[in-house]
Amino acid sequence: MNHVLIAITGASGSIYGLRLTAELLRVGRRVSLLLSEPGRQVLNFENGLAWSADPAERQRQVRAYFAPERIDCLDNADLFAAVASGSSAPDAMVVCPCSMGTAGRIAAGLSGTLLERSADVMLKERRPLLLVPRETPLSIIHLENLLRLARAGAVVIPAMPAFYHAPQTLDDLVAFVVGKVLDQLGVAHELFRRWGGKEEC
Ligand SMILES: Cc1cc2nc3c(=O)[nH]c(=O)nc-3n(C[C@H](O)[C@H](O)[C@H](O)COP(=O)(O)O)c2cc1C
Repeated sequence: MNHVLIAITGASGSIYGLRLTAELLRVGRRVSLLLSEPGRQVLNFENGLAWSADPAERQRQVRAYFAPERIDCLDNADLFAAVASGSSAPDAMVVCPCSMGTAGRIAAGLSGTLLERSADVMLKERRPLLLVPRETPLSIIHLENLLRLARAGAVVIPAMPAFYHAPQTLDDLVAFVVGKVLDQLGVAHELFRRWGGKEEC
């Protein structure tokens, strides 16, 4: 899992994608970041950022935000990017957070943007595609799309923090969801205290 593609869409909870990116960089992974346009807008709104709509400027901003140089920020309109091809697919892709719109478009195999095409490539190449959906309540359409994606090989990790590890802060809740994603990627972490049986309480 050296190269991970992280896509941030317009669902609430872009903080999960930011934290996941930071954790993967921290453990030495190479990260390609991909934002849908609603994803960029919601991320700016929820995190007090001002990441540009211009891909080149956004690349500079993203590198400055995360500091290390192992990150690049892709242009969702660039279907010529390497990750759009099965011959150059990343080791894993995580859509975090995943809007219901993106879930529906991936489930339908539309491949109209780099994000959708990359997800389609992961499924056809049988490579790990992790989705962190966030919506509530879920309609039958949402549920059927997520079921279709799971049947196609995606791992669905809903942004549903638990409370058995006694979270104290917002950061603890974010860390739990990010830790569950890292578990699926096989990345060791100590983002939350694991359940050790009732006797430990
Ligand atoms: C502040 C804000 C929060 C949103 N939260 C969600 C959400 O949690 N889940 C969701 O599916 N859509 C949410 N949306 C709607 C999506 O942004 C919208 O459907 C968008 O078209 C998704 O596009 P994308 O899938 O290309 O990112 C939200 C929109 C805004 C403005």
